[in-house]
Amino acid sequence: MQFETWTKALAELPVDCVAVGVHDDGELTPEAKALDLRCREKLSRLMKRGDFPGKPGESWLLTDLEGVRAERVLLIGLGPKGQSGKQELTRRAWRRATNTAISAATRTRVTSLALALPRPAAKALSDERLGRSVAELVGNTLYRVNDLKSGKKPRPHALARVVVATSAKAAQAVNKGFGQGQALVSGSALMRNLANLPANVCTPTYLGKIAEGLAKTHKSLKVKVLGLPEIKREKMGCLLAVTQGSDEPPRFIVIEHRHPKAKNAPVVLVGKGITFDTGGISLKDPPLMDEMKFDMSGAACVIGTMNAVGELNLPLNVIGIVAACENMPSGRAVKPGDIVTSAQGLTVEILNTDAEGRLILCDALNYARRFKPDVVIDMATLTGAIVVALGVHHTGVFSNSEALARELVDCGIAADDRAWHMPLTEEYGEQLKSNFADMANVAGRDGGSITAAAFLGKFTKDLTWAHMDIAGTAYQGGAGKGSTGRPSALLLEYLLRRAAAR
Ligand code: BES
Ligand code: MN
Ligand code: ZN
Repeated sequence: MQFETWTKALAELPVDCVAVGVHDDGELTPEAKALDLRCREKLSRLMKRGDFPGKPGESWLLTDLEGVRAERVLLIGLGPKGQSGKQELTRRAWRRATNTAISAATRTRVTSLALALPRPAAKALSDERLGRSVAELVGNTLYRVNDLKSGKKPRPHALARVVVATSAKAAQAVNKGFGQGQALVSGSALMRNLANLPANVCTPTYLGKIAEGLAKTHKSLKVKVLGLPEIKREKMGCLLAVTQGSDEPPRFIVIEHRHPKAKNAPVVLVGKGITFDTGGISLKDPPLMDEMKFDMSGAACVIGTMNAVGELNLPLNVIGIVAACENMPSGRAVKPGDIVTSAQGLTVEILNTDAEGRLILCDALNYARRFKPDVVIDMATLTGAIVVALGVHHTGVFSNSEALARELVDCGIAADDRAWHMPLTEEYGEQLKSNFADMANVAGRDGGSITAAAFLGKFTKDLTWAHMDIAGTAYQGGAGKGSTGRPSALLLEYLLRRAAAR
C-alpha cells in the first residue's frame, strides 16, 4: 500500500475516488463544498432531496461528476455536527468515518482513494498521529484472516494507494505518521496471523522459526532460540513443569534490537506463548477450549512488536522474550500438588495446572534480569478473571510502579487501544501462601487476575515492571472469532514515546 499527502485543490486530485463528509441535516463539510462548487452544486441538491441520510457508518457513491477529476466521489455520513456547530469531529467519529470510506472503497474496483474528511482538533489528533491512524485503519480494514479454506478465495480488493488531503504545513508530519502506521500494521498483522493459526501448525518450534526469520529481514535484530537442553541448563523449573506433559518441544526465544545511538538500558518485553492450553491435569471444560490456541497472543504480540521496532529501526534498545510451550495432560504431566523450583530459586506448589501462564512467565521474567533492563513489560492471556472484571474493551495493567502503569494507560488512550490500571497491593500476594513451598500458584476465585499478577510480582522485586493481562482484548470469540492485534498499538505508542524522549 502506498500512502501520500495532497495539499492542492480537491477537484484536481488524481485518484479514482475522493471521500468527503456530509452531515445528517444535509449540510456539506467544507471539503464537500469545495467539490460542490465545481459540479454545479450537484452534491447539495442530492442532499436536499434526502436520499442519503448522512448517518455515521453510511456512504453513497457518485460517479462522473463534471468538474471533478476523480471518477468517483464517495459521500461519508458524519451524523450531526458537533455541539458548537463546528465541523471538527471527535476522534472516535473520525475513525468511524475513515473506516467507512476505506471499507466502501474496497467493495468497489477503486485502486486509489483520497480521504478529504474533516479532522479532529489538533490536540485530539496531531498531524503525525493522523498519518499513523490512517495507515493503521487501512491496514486493519484490509486484514484478511489467513484461513485454511480450500475453496476459491473471495475477490481481492483493488486498493493500492491512499491519499490524505491535508494542509501543506501538516504534510511532513502526516507522512512520518504513515511510516509508523505501516510498521504498526505489519507488526499487528504478524501477531494476528500467528495467533489465528491452529495449535497443530503454530507450535513453539514454529514460533522459533518465525522469530529467526525476523533477524533475516531486519538488520538490527538478533535472535536466539533455546531448546529443551538449554532450558534445562537455565534451570527454568516452572517452565519445564508446564511443558513436561507435552510431546511438542518447548522454545525460549530471545529477540534483541540494539541501536548504536541508544544509550539507555533496554526495555524488555515478555510474552506468554502457550500454543495450546488444555489446562493440563486440571483439564478445562470442552466449550470454547479451541480458543486456547490464542493463549500465545502475548508471545505473538512481542514478535509482532519486535518486527515493528526493527522496521522503524527505533533508536532504543528493546529485547523481546517469548516462553513457548503447550499445556497438556499426559502420564508425564505435572500434577496438582507437585512442587517445583523456579529459575530464581523460589519453590512453587502447583495447586492448579491450569494456572500455567504465571509459571512460564516467572522463569521468563527472571531471565529478563540479565539485560539489566530499565523497564520490563509482560503480556499474557493470563486469566479469565480479567475478562469478568473489565470485559473485552480494556486490557488490565498491573505494575509495581505507579508511573509506569499511568504511562501505559495514557499510551492506550492515545493509541485507541485502551487499558485500565488495576490494584496490586501486598494483601493479594499474601493469598498465595502454601504450607509446603514458598508459594502456591493459585489463590482462589476472588480477584483472580490480581492474585495472578501478584504471583508474577514475587519474581519482579527491584525491577520496574508492568504486566498486561490481555485475555479479554487480544482476541474475539463468536462469529468474528480471531485475533485483534491488541495491544500492539499501545505498546508501539509506548516505544515511540521513549524514542522521542531519548
Ligand atoms: N489461558 C488461561 C486464561 C484465559 C481464560 C484466557 C479465558 C482467555 C480466556 C489461563 O491459563 C488459565 O487457565 N487461567 C485460569 C487460572 C485459574 C486456574 C486460577 C483461569 O482463568 O481460569
Ligand atoms: Mn490455563
Ligand atoms: Zn493459559
